[in-house]
Amino acid sequence: MKTGILGSGVVGKILVGGFLKHGHAVMVGTRDVSKLSGWTAENPSAKAGSFAETAAFGEMIVLAVKGSAAAARVIEQLCILWCIPGFLRNQWTHAFKLLT
Ligand SMILES: NC(=O)c1ccc[n+]([C@@H]2O[C@H](COP(=O)([O-])OP(=O)(O)OC[C@H]3O[C@@H](n4cnc5c(N)ncnc54)[C@H](OP(=O)(O)O)[C@@H]3O)[C@@H](O)[C@H]2O)c1
Repeated sequence: MKTGILGSGVVGKILVGGFLKHGHAVMVGTRDVSKLSGWTAENPSAKAGSFAETAAFGEMIVLAVKGSAAAARVIEQLCILWCIPGFLRNQWTHAFKLLT
């Protein structure tokens, strides 16, 4: 599956490695693609792009950016919402999808 990882930090790069290992096509999104030139040279299987390019590339999008403390309050609640079906079914492969 084409996967867009929004965030090129520690978490984003680890996720890229994991998705590539399982055969997914991956693009990592950043605010400044030029700072990833060394990393993409070392990881030719992964593409790098802007956040918008990465969001357009991915059939599945994973958010791995650093947010503000105010945003964390909302995001932590989403995590709890995600955990509920996981604990009920002991299955952890579900994800949120934005319907437009
Ligand atoms: N590291 C861990 O062990 C760990 C564990 C659990 C949860 N987390 C969470 O995972 C997320 C990413 O962590 P990380 O360790 O990978 O962080 P990181 O290495 O500092 O990377 C931060 C990422 O967030 C982006 N970013 C920072 N400020 C931004 C802003 N104002 N607007 C848009 N993007 C912004 C950066 O974009 P650029 O590429 O443009 O610089 C970069 O891709 C955080 O929310 C963190 O709390 C991390």
